[in-house]
Amino acid sequence: MKYTIAIDGPAGAGKSTIAKLLASELNILYLDTGAMYRAVGLKALRENIDIKDTEKIDEMIKNIDIQVRYIDGKQHTYLDGEDVTHKIRTPEVSLAASNVAVIKSVRLKMVELQREIAKDMSVIMDGRDIGTYVLPNAPFKFFITATPEERARRRYLEMKESGEKNVDYDIILKDIKYRDENDSTRAFAPLKKADDAILVDNTFMTVEETLSKILSHIKGDGVNQ
Ligand code: DC
Repeated sequence: MKYTIAIDGPAGAGKSTIAKLLASELNILYLDTGAMYRAVGLKALRENIDIKDTEKIDEMIKNIDIQVRYIDGKQHTYLDGEDVTHKIRTPEVSLAASNVAVIKSVRLKMVELQREIAKDMSVIMDGRDIGTYVLPNAPFKFFITATPEERARRRYLEMKESGEKNVDYDIILKDIKYRDENDSTRAFAPLKKADDAILVDNTFMTVEETLSKILSHIKGDGVNQ
């Protein structure tokens, strides 16, 4: 059976955690589309391009080489041949990604790459516009969300646990709110629940509960949940 599963939602809702677990449960490919926008954001930062300078970004995007490869089942993201998988996980790159993602030429290029990957195989993709724009015909669509405060709390704990110092909850919450606003108010393919997506607000749910709710829909016994 070919699965095409779209997962959308705001930053920090647990999309990638859930998508990875689902992918391993169903034994299908997981594509983190945010990583691709992050690689574009990283390039703009490195080249000192003013994010508001659409013409410069249009020019940059013409020659960018973004690739996704899988090593031991894990996604690695390449920018112009360099593995930037870890370098794209900083707060600066998060903001740059959200800013470049507003630009139409960037989205068109990323969407083309994403559709190409989903063409012939079962895939679960997470992002902001997967159910509404990238894969509008996906048979399974989920919109995962939680309150901004809960998402910021999770990010805070995650960063603390990974040994980062100087982690400030208020700054994380501010960044999350900025990205929510930026991602959902842009003109082209904004963050939005697709009409036919199932809403999963997991503010008060564990990862296991969220996963089980989604799996029950995919396996066909979650119609009234
Ligand atoms: O999922 P993430 O936090 O890694 O995504 C980083 C940014 O990329 C996010 O703020 C908005 C943008 N993005 C997007 O516009 N469309 C997607 N499908 C995925 C991410």
